[in-house]
Amino acid sequence: MTDAEIAAELRALLPRAHAPYSGVQVACAVEGADGALHFGVNVENAAYPQGQCAETSAIGGAVTAGVTALRRVYVASSLPGLVWPCGGCRQRIFEFAGEGCEVVSISPDGEVGRQTIEQLLPLGFRLDPSQVDRR
Ligand code: THU
Repeated sequence: MTDAEIAAELRALLPRAHAPYSGVQVACAVEGADGALHFGVNVENAAYPQGQCAETSAIGGAVTAGVTALRRVYVASSLPGLVWPCGGCRQRIFEFAGEGCEVVSISPDGEVGRQTIEQLLPLGFRLDPSQVDRR
């Protein structure tokens, strides 16, 4: 799929966001190593902290489908201009980022911005499970 086709898919998904509290609709697509796309929207909750970002929804679907390394993350929202993942989602993306993983932000009027996850989250936290002492 081209960036323009993915942008159209994301725009079409925005109304599926459950965002009655903020009114901000966000849609995300994450691309695994095989090129398949996994989509997600933000899902808010009356108990505000329980809400989840579109990136979290998309990553959950991708991981469920067996994706282990993200090649690209696309984000679009109902806000004007480009939006970039929140801090928590940067860390989530970092956890599953393949080499050179890119975040692509698409504005409502079709502007496209690109940043690597390392640009968005320099020196991100990594935990090597083999080095964790679980005693
Ligand atoms: N939101 C996302 O879905 N992704 C982000 O990267 C930033 C914020 C959502 C959370 C909340 O439902 C709404 O946007 C307003 O903050």
